[in-house]
Amino acid sequence: MVKVADRLALVTGASSGIGRAVALRLAGDGARLVLTGRDPDRLQEVAERTGGKAVVADLAEGVDALLGSLPGTPALVVHNAGAGAAGPLEDMTSAQVDALIDLNLRAPVQLTRALLPGLRAERGHLVFVASIAAVGVAGEAVYSATKAGLRGFADAVRVEAPEVGVTTVLPGIVDTPFHGPERRSFPRAVPADKVAEEIVKGLRRDAAEVVVPRWLAIGAKLHGAAPALFAKASRRWG
Ligand SMILES: NC(=O)c1ccc[n+]([C@@H]2O[C@H](COP(=O)([O-])OP(=O)(O)OC[C@H]3O[C@@H](n4cnc5c(N)ncnc54)[C@H](OP(=O)(O)O)[C@@H]3O)[C@@H](O)[C@H]2O)c1
Repeated sequence: MVKVADRLALVTGASSGIGRAVALRLAGDGARLVLTGRDPDRLQEVAERTGGKAVVADLAEGVDALLGSLPGTPALVVHNAGAGAAGPLEDMTSAQVDALIDLNLRAPVQLTRALLPGLRAERGHLVFVASIAAVGVAGEAVYSATKAGLRGFADAVRVEAPEVGVTTVLPGIVDTPFHGPERRSFPRAVPADKVAEEIVKGLRRDAAEVVVPRWLAIGAKLHGAAPALFAKASRRWG
């Protein structure tokens, strides 16, 4: 079992949704927290509830400000901050594409690169909150690419750094402010705290991949085994 109590845990995107729920659970399990997000008030609320240190930072603009504010070497890192973009690929501006890649992929990669020596020394653990969209979702091509990239990066780090545990999380639809008003109705939204519970369980037992809800793993397996069939089914049923 991976130890959580008394370890320094960095949670990105801790001011809302899944990250907030993970922070509350890790604090409940005795971790010392560094919480980051952009909204100072929402972040402060989580910091007060968890006794954590709040670091306001826009990760799409780089990770140096966050790295410079860490109170120590994190043993646990939950890469959760992320944003989505829905709509036809051709309708996205070049700047929107860059911003999504910067936040969802560049930031966790750069943070991991910088924190890996400390994580190795601590025999620590990394969690990457990707998405089931990593299998490729129509109308979310760039988002899907960032999450597939994150999943591939996590898989490589798992092999390259055996001292460090790596858990990738593939949620379906989660009930958070992430989607705005146009949330899809299928699959049914899972509460953020349920996802947080599965994330902390997965971290503790050093699971390689956690899919929430679990039945969505069928889609991920079909995608891996038969990508053309998966694309056909996805076009037909969404
Ligand atoms: N909700 C879903 O259905 C769903 C499904 C699969 C995967 N996911 C993934 O789960 C993760 C968490 O999403 P959520 O559903 O909990 O959404 P959320 O409630 O909107 O939370 C997103 C978090 O990311 C932070 N964030 C956004 N842009 C940022 C930036 N530029 N710099 C730093 N932090 C930034 C936000 O901070 P501020 O609010 O303070 O800006 C917030 O704390 C994301 O990576 C998302 O892709 C979500």
